[in-house]
Amino acid sequence: MTWSRIVGTGGYLPTRIVTNDDLAKRMDTSDEWVRTRTGIRQRHIAEPAQTSSDLGLEASRAALAAAQMAAQEIDLLIVATATPDYVFPSTACILQAKLGIKGCAAFDIQAVCSGFVYGLAIADKMIRSGQYRCALVIGAEVYSRILDWDDRSTAVLFGDGAGAVILRADSRPGVLGSVLHADGSQANILSVPGNVSHGRIAGSPYLRMDGQAVFKFAVKVLDEVARETLKVCGCTVGDVDWLIPHQANLRILDATAKKLGVDASKLIVTVDRHANTSAASIPLALDVAIRDGRIKPGHRVLLEGVGGGFTWGAALVEM
Ligand code: ACO
Repeated sequence: MTWSRIVGTGGYLPTRIVTNDDLAKRMDTSDEWVRTRTGIRQRHIAEPAQTSSDLGLEASRAALAAAQMAAQEIDLLIVATATPDYVFPSTACILQAKLGIKGCAAFDIQAVCSGFVYGLAIADKMIRSGQYRCALVIGAEVYSRILDWDDRSTAVLFGDGAGAVILRADSRPGVLGSVLHADGSQANILSVPGNVSHGRIAGSPYLRMDGQAVFKFAVKVLDEVARETLKVCGCTVGDVDWLIPHQANLRILDATAKKLGVDASKLIVTVDRHANTSAASIPLALDVAIRDGRIKPGHRVLLEGVGGGFTWGAALVEM
């Protein structure tokens, strides 16, 4: 039987750090408000010329180095992003060229903050089919481009970054199982309701959110999908060594762990330093916890995404 295993991870955060105090200089907010409501202390913001593919390239190089692999070995490239470089071609195709490779399948996933879990689940299934051997799955975002910096209720929540994972076919178990869901009837609680039309932006190019509705929905579905995924894998909460939910907000993370019965010491948190990096948040958090030695070979990690659409999903991974 063929499984897919994570053999390398990488992350990249733009060098420019913007603290809550920095934001308080340009909008009516405070470090105290942002920290107590969200747990966020700072975020990284891309330089004007940096795109999602640029951030993804750095994360990919780090993942390839960790896996001790050459880019030429990749036969499947998936980028999860809600902030693509262009309408088309896909950010995956642009990144493929930047990596200096050609020929392999390359496409984007649009599932907003659940995009990485969607991408991982798709790559896992494609590898398990036997047709692909080595997938590069990336979450890359420049949310700073779709925020209304005059809207304090959303601007304080997000940051830019990219995370990457290399999945390789293996006879040993890796991704034990995954579950994906969506409910388009909830599209209006989190959206960027605009598009490019006849040479203009039609609608709004900025993120809009009903914060309290998002909070309630996220906590509910993160609990449900975690339990469903564990069941699909024949595991229980006791089998989970580490929990990595999408890093939206510390209160959502804490509530998710508590509801699930996972001890707070098993919760990986990066939202305080990275803020919400949407599709990049889970691979970035995974990379941080592997590199600092908390996640070790053999550990079981439950990854959970939730985001606009609404979309949600989870994957249980044995490292
Ligand atoms: N600084 C200071 N005051 C603010 C700010 C700010 N940055 N933003 C809003 N306020 C004010 C509001 O104007 C309001 O003032 P008012 O009472 O005078 O009208 C007050 O704070 C309370 O506003 P609420 O929106 O009710 O604040 P709430 O306690 O719900 O917290 C928050 C808002 C943090 C967004 C919360 O709803 C939340 O955590 N929601 C989850 C949303 C989330 O994490 N989204 C991330 C994207 S979604 C995803 O990734 C899945």
